[in-house]
Amino acid sequence: MKKQILAALLGASLCVSATAATLNVGTEATFAPFEFMDEEKREITGFDIDMIKAIAKAAGHEVKIQNMGFDGLIPSLQTNVIDAVAAAMTITPQRQRAVKFTEPYYQSGLVVLINKKDEGTIKEVANLEGKRICAQIGTTGAMMANRIKNANVTLFNSVTEAFMDLKSGGCQAVLNDKPVVEFYLARRNDDTVKILPQVLEAEYYGFAVSKRNQKLAAELNKGLETIKANGEYDKIYQKWFGNTK
Ligand code: ARG
Repeated sequence: MKKQILAALLGASLCVSATAATLNVGTEATFAPFEFMDEEKREITGFDIDMIKAIAKAAGHEVKIQNMGFDGLIPSLQTNVIDAVAAAMTITPQRQRAVKFTEPYYQSGLVVLINKKDEGTIKEVANLEGKRICAQIGTTGAMMANRIKNANVTLFNSVTEAFMDLKSGGCQAVLNDKPVVEFYLARRNDDTVKILPQVLEAEYYGFAVSKRNQKLAAELNKGLETIKANGEYDKIYQKWFGNTK
């Protein structure tokens, strides 16, 4: 009896490792240029997507992208719904207690986006006290917003909704990642909003895996090293940000 169970378990685990060549990668695709929907091709594209594909390829894996809410990513890793997260996710001590991050692959920071008509009264972060602030649920922007005194914080499922709420006069400021806000402004050529000059905090993005999957973390780190050394990282960087670091 025991032997049978053991055999069944072994069989099951063999199945798992046989299909493990495909990495299920979770993302939240409203975060251009890191991950967003290419409306023509009807597929998710962006810097992170190119990066994780190149890194996984270097490690011998294929990638399947799965879109979900940002606040669902870490729980999905922990329950093995996905194998890795590629979602411009900032490496924070709090998240490091829950998941394993790769080495950082991108340096970012948080900025404040406001309506231009408020530039006389909102000049710096200190002026955000007591204001209506919006951010994307589960993000470092949301965490920062919650730390601002007396702020009235609204959290949205997507950054796009937060931007729209700002423009329609709902909130007075959006807290979000600098490169994403800059990309949004550049794409829309929108001069009714502006970014405050102050960058709130330096942040580093990492890919995340389950703490139980140290092997995958090591493989992804090795892949990251490989694409940095062979020029592929620079190529991907240039494709999305226009200049090499
Ligand atoms: N860097 C921020 C964070 O880790 C925001 C990331 C949001 N990413 C996304 N794909 N929507 O909290």
